Amino acid sequence: MMIKSNLFAQESQENKRFVKISQREDRCDLPKSVWRPLTENAYFQTWKGVTIDKDPTQIAAYPMLLYELRPKTIIELGALKGGSAIWLADNLEIFGIEGKVYSVDVDLDRLDETAKADSRIHFLEGDCNKINIALKPELLSDLPHPWLIIEDAHVNMVGVVEYFHENGLQSGDYLIVEDTNKFMWEVWLDWDDQAYIELGLQKVDDFRKWLMKHENDYEIDTFYQDMYGYNASKNWNSILKRV
Ligand SMILES: C[S@@+](CC[C@H](N)C(=O)[O-])C[C@H]1O[C@@H](n2cnc3c(N)ncnc32)[C@H](O)[C@@H]1O
Repeated sequence: MMIKSNLFAQESQENKRFVKISQREDRCDLPKSVWRPLTENAYFQTWKGVTIDKDPTQIAAYPMLLYELRPKTIIELGALKGGSAIWLADNLEIFGIEGKVYSVDVDLDRLDETAKADSRIHFLEGDCNKINIALKPELLSDLPHPWLIIEDAHVNMVGVVEYFHENGLQSGDYLIVEDTNKFMWEVWLDWDDQAYIELGLQKVDDFRKWLMKHENDYEIDTFYQDMYGYNASKNWNSILKRV
């Protein structure tokens, strides 16, 4: 009975949906070789004509998470051209969620005109190295929950996530740290900008260490994390729910 066994699978998935990092492995069901073709055209991928740097599994999983979480506040670190911020705002609108999108970048000059004209999004110029200035504690304390924080700037990642941990992340909020897939960085080791790739690999290690320190504070949501296979995403073990 196909349907019955699917139901059992769903139930057992629910039982172990939220798990600690110590129960998770640094591996992925998708082989290393696929991460090059899956990421090499990232800057040609668009939403409403604006670059969006998300992999296909993220494009599918994020809307489901948004629909379930119904975030009142989304903060994205790393706006690039603004495509992901527009996509997040569109998803909120489609689902009838009254949430606000804040997107921070050190250089907002690169924003696409479509993004600049989108009044639903609050683009803030700021440096992740000075996150307490870019997003002051007073501002954060006024932002309604639940929150979805997306770290996608790859600069001072530990400082940034620790800052949100200390300044507002509450039980039920989500934190996603992007690009924690080791395979994805390793397949680009022959790329011109070696230093950037090394920084990416460092981020992966730093992230796991940070999460081990906070394993009683954050759990991995394996429902979204493993939707398309174990860690089958640019994000390994980094779709987190605050306990
Ligand atoms: C990977 S891109 C973001 C992609 C975007 N979130 C998306 O999904 O389309 C990283 C962004 O981080 C920004 N960035 C780099 N250093 C930064 C810093 N110190 N503070 C804030 N943003 C920074 C870059 O300007 C770049 O736009």
